[in-house]
Amino acid sequence: MSGKVAQVPELIDLCREFDAALMLDDAHAVGVIGPDGRGSAAYHDLDAAAHITTGTFSKTFSAIGGFAVGDHDVIEYIRHDGSPHIFSASMPPSVVATVLKCLDILQEEPERLERLREISNYMRNGFRELGFDVWESETPIIPVVIGDMEMCFRFRKGRRSCAARTWRRTPTRSWTSSWTPSGAWDASTTSWRAMRRDLGAGEIKVVLLAS
Ligand SMILES: Cc1ncc(COP(=O)(O)O)c(C=O)c1O
Repeated sequence: MSGKVAQVPELIDLCREFDAALMLDDAHAVGVIGPDGRGSAAYHDLDAAAHITTGTFSKTFSAIGGFAVGDHDVIEYIRHDGSPHIFSASMPPSVVATVLKCLDILQEEPERLERLREISNYMRNGFRELGFDVWESETPIIPVVIGDMEMCFRFRKGRRSCAARTWRRTPTRSWTSSWTPSGAWDASTTSWRAMRRDLGAGEIKVVLLAS
């Protein structure tokens, strides 16, 4: 949620030092960073770096559900002992087809990721120029630190109503808007912006102007 890319090589070193397993939650990384959007390990040129990598289909893939990838034994264990998995319905075929098609598109149309990077940098720089603290964000997740809970809600509400029309296009909440401060650190005083590839330059300006 900080918008920073996880330092996977350092995490691997720590895991080695403490004999720990590494689990990467790539919900915000798959389809976003690394070659063909292959996520945070690929971003660092690493292959199968984590014991378990998880991700959601509700963001980049505009669907629902998710995945867990790991060694066969680990996945078998989750399949047979992980109650959230055991008590979940299986994925609808339409969702599987959507995700498979998205994976094709990610490989075949790299310009989409390039554009996402460009407009994320544009938006981030725009917030910085306006004087906002956006931490060390370097991805399409842009935290905007407001510093006061009431101001944070007002900020979020104002931008929402002004730019609502830009955020209606995806069927799920994927890459859409800022969202209500909730469970994360500094949450009550920070508003988050998640960029979406198909936002136009005009729409981004509207968001910045509304800020
Ligand atoms: C870091 C992270 N992991 C996992 C999830 C789970 O996503 P979902 O419940 O939509 O599959 C989210 C959702 O916002 C997230 O931000």
